[in-house]
Amino acid sequence: MVNAIILICAYLIGSIPSGLWIGKIFYKTDIREHGSGNLGATNSFRVLGKKPGLVVTVMDILKGTAATLLPLIPFFADATIHPLILGGIAVVGHMFPIFAGFRGGKAVATSGGVLLGYAWPLFILLVISFLIALKITKMVSLSSMIVSIVAVIYSVIYVGMTGDVSLLILIILLTVFIFYRHRANIKRIKEGTEPKVKWI
Ligand code: G3P
Repeated sequence: MVNAIILICAYLIGSIPSGLWIGKIFYKTDIREHGSGNLGATNSFRVLGKKPGLVVTVMDILKGTAATLLPLIPFFADATIHPLILGGIAVVGHMFPIFAGFRGGKAVATSGGVLLGYAWPLFILLVISFLIALKITKMVSLSSMIVSIVAVIYSVIYVGMTGDVSLLILIILLTVFIFYRHRANIKRIKEGTEPKVKWI
């Protein structure tokens, strides 16, 4: 029973549509009707501005972290679900949120949050890698996909150091999610019409 409850909690945490709620509550704007139409952090920056964009980014990251850390709550002490499965379920909630008609984000920030909760040095390395990729490409979507591949490489090294294969399995799965959710971006990148950021 406790396993079912913890899984549902992970999904509900991931389902919190930060960008949609912040846009609607504070800016009377549905970000799904503007920019890329995506419910994620990048489109929140694009449509709502820097400050709300940052808040949405942090919230989306923390959803993954919170789900991964759920087993630390005493109520869940008897749960036997691996923290990375909870993180993966939160990412599914982020992509298909029950609170936003199952139309959610592209898995990037919440996946990062899972790593923050499970192996924070890897998260720091990936943030640095993301900023380098963004500096070079100027495209958030392309940088996100590049970093998901970099994450696979880092986690192979992590397996070599710790013997923990579960992280590699999750990262491969998240990378598949990320590429699948960026189908429209990949098409725009190929056509040369993907928006570029100017601030980096
Ligand atoms: O995190 C999503 C990002 O990689 C792309 O978002 O809105 O430019 O499609 P967007």
